[in-house]
Amino acid sequence: MNDLPAPLRPEIASLETSRIQQIFDLGLGRKDVIPLWVGEGDQPTPSFICDAATQAMKDGRTFYTYKHGIPELREAIADYTRTLYDIDCRSERVSVTCSGMSGIMMVLQAVVGTGGNVVVVTPVWPNIMSAVQIAGGTLRPVQLDDLPDGGFKLDLDRLADALDENTRAIFIASPGNPTGWVMSAEEQRHVLELCRARRIWMIADEVYARFIFDGAANGRAAAPSFLEISEPEDPLIVVNSFSKAWAMTGWRMGWLITPPSFIETLGRLIEFNTSGSPHFLQYGCLTAIRDGEDYVHETVERCRQGGEIVFQRLAALPRVHMARPQGAFYAFFRVDGLRDSMAFAKHLLEQTNVGLSPGSAFGPGGEGHMRLCFASSSASLSTAMDRLEPILAKPV
Ligand SMILES: Cc1ncc(COP(=O)(O)O)c(C=O)c1O
Repeated sequence: MNDLPAPLRPEIASLETSRIQQIFDLGLGRKDVIPLWVGEGDQPTPSFICDAATQAMKDGRTFYTYKHGIPELREAIADYTRTLYDIDCRSERVSVTCSGMSGIMMVLQAVVGTGGNVVVVTPVWPNIMSAVQIAGGTLRPVQLDDLPDGGFKLDLDRLADALDENTRAIFIASPGNPTGWVMSAEEQRHVLELCRARRIWMIADEVYARFIFDGAANGRAAAPSFLEISEPEDPLIVVNSFSKAWAMTGWRMGWLITPPSFIETLGRLIEFNTSGSPHFLQYGCLTAIRDGEDYVHETVERCRQGGEIVFQRLAALPRVHMARPQGAFYAFFRVDGLRDSMAFAKHLLEQTNVGLSPGSAFGPGGEGHMRLCFASSSASLSTAMDRLEPILAKPV
């Protein structure tokens, strides 16, 4: 770093590689490792989606195109949103982005800046914290409460107390990565009201919206969304992604739903960040969102089963605390006596060849926990548990 010809912005020079990445790098190239550390499933994108993108490429859809996405895809996303939540949503509010991450980055570029801060509910995916830093802002974490049964709860008073005159936005991911915590509609109403009153943005990360495990029981196909309790001109931006529900992590495609009055600003940011999303990939996304419902249901059911296997095995261990997963596809479990989750992740990798992420990667409230991604086959999750159990049963 010191050898560079000129100084970097301090926010950039001080960025650290995420601890998920660090443990992942350590395990790269190891034989027979069961990789449960990163946030993706073990299945490739289904071929009906790949075929649509391949065909589009062959058909010459290889040019620059609409910066907010091709009109058919924007309309299909609006239609998906209307059907999923039984709400009105015009395609003019939809903008296709090169991944959920890129969408988050552009939103933060738009609303934060030097001197501003973002109140973020933690533990959270580390990229969010780094994105706030890159945008020049300060992070104000509000930690979820750890419940005795291993679940999590948001203290709404503490969230309100964290806001100050420099707060530009509240960022909440629900269902949450790594916790699997799902915010209720009641809590969403309360937080949105706070944002309206304080004239700050609510950035709702809903990339795991489809991963809820009691949905069938309460007649829902998705977690409660801020879109259901808001008006189009509310200070709300919803982040979504093709990555998780359609097994498209490597495509780097996502979307934002914003107030109509924000879309022009966002268009400018897209122009100068990415100049729009890859043309032919958008046809794969169109097929995914129009024809992928059966696939999504199968994927969520597979994750529910994976989560249940992991929950049954972990919850039986006296030193481990975890509630039955509500959403997303992670077990985020607390281990009695665990003080250095990074060292423990390395130890587990050495001793068992199972890759987990250290809880400390996820900011305040994360240490003392480990994250296991259960979007995998029952067979590999069972083998992983066979290997982990003897170590997790012993004092750390
Ligand atoms: C909470 C959360 N938000 C956003 C993303 C971004 O997803 P992508 O950039 O793959 O669309 C992720 C990915 O792991 C995530 O966990």
